[in-house]
Amino acid sequence: MDTNIARTFDVKRLRQDFPILATTVRGKPLTFLDSGASAQKPRQVIEAMTRCMETAYANVHRGAYHLSEAATESYEAARVAVQNFIGAAEPEEIVFTSNSTMAINLVAHSFGRGILKPGQFVLTSEMEHHANLVPWQMLRDAGLGIGLRYVRVTEGGELDMNDLAAKLADGKVGLVAITHMSNVLGTVTPAARIVKMAHEAGAKVLFDGSQAVVHRHVDVAALDADFYVFTGHKLYGPTGIGVLYGKRKLLDAMPPFLGGGDMIESVTLERTTYAAAPARFEAGTPAIIEAVGLHAAIDYVTAIGMDAIEAHERALVEHAMRVLPGVEGLRLLGAAQDRGGVFSFALEGVHPHDLSTYLDRSGICVRAGRHCAEPLHARFAVDGGTTRASFGLYTTPEEIDLLAEKLVDARRFFA
Ligand code: ALA
Repeated sequence: MDTNIARTFDVKRLRQDFPILATTVRGKPLTFLDSGASAQKPRQVIEAMTRCMETAYANVHRGAYHLSEAATESYEAARVAVQNFIGAAEPEEIVFTSNSTMAINLVAHSFGRGILKPGQFVLTSEMEHHANLVPWQMLRDAGLGIGLRYVRVTEGGELDMNDLAAKLADGKVGLVAITHMSNVLGTVTPAARIVKMAHEAGAKVLFDGSQAVVHRHVDVAALDADFYVFTGHKLYGPTGIGVLYGKRKLLDAMPPFLGGGDMIESVTLERTTYAAAPARFEAGTPAIIEAVGLHAAIDYVTAIGMDAIEAHERALVEHAMRVLPGVEGLRLLGAAQDRGGVFSFALEGVHPHDLSTYLDRSGICVRAGRHCAEPLHARFAVDGGTTRASFGLYTTPEEIDLLAEKLVDARRFFA
């Protein structure tokens, strides 16, 4: 654990860990409000990855020499770090993937085709990122007799729990696949309640935790989730690595997704037998350096404390809820009671792409468009898209104030 990390939450001090935050954009200090798309990286992550490449790098699980053993140890230590971070019962329940999208595709393929039966349904929602929609549509369209249902989203941007109950009622749903926190609305879904309702109806549950795991402590065992996915790059770690948590008995029952090296038990020209999980789902050379980086990122946020990060972000959300509604002509999407630091909005008379370009002139980075959630934008009748500001542990109230000030300016500029 890095002893340089502050024990108490001191955002100014923590910002110094992120080299990019000291840079300027056209002479303006960088105001990075796009952490929901990908978070910036602390020096601790950058240095851990460099150290791995400079001193301890080789392929894993394949060599009987010192360096390969050292790299294998680092890779497997990252798995244990993830296990502890999300409260999984054993490291074998942690599968490394390339990102959340691949993790969901893995479940759609292996659980969807291998375990779900014709006549069963997957239940997802209107609130999902395309990563938790398209794989289920592909499964529905694969001619296997597996259907797809969607939970509606209320005007306030929350899951319609009555609709969820109604769509579970006939006992035909085999899997509920729902976001734990919307990447557009910031809505945190009632995960424990969803699990209880799904299990009572005989369904398994997958959470897309890509956003949630960054903002609050997640305990998959306490939640009793069957699957939970997230990605490294939003958690201050590198791109190219993601996580699928699956209960051991489910992973053991699932057929492989990709075939290749390291996922086998034995291969002849006639047939292949497969390794147990998690190796069964990790075909090919994995993301070794990225696993080391993810481990460093987990150590980093753990040393700060997920509870402290959550408290900081709750304060930012409250600040944003005070400041942003004061911007004339601004329509905020969603108003969930329980929400994280993600705000999507439409500014009257200004196209999101124009707005994003305008804000960039002041060094402010936001996302513009439909944020890989087109059905949700259709639901709120903002088919032209929205602008999204999303916070990280390094975000300050002053940055939110600057955003609000520049939104007012933008409205005048484009009037
Ligand atoms: N899923 C990322 C986002 O919401 C890319 O922006």
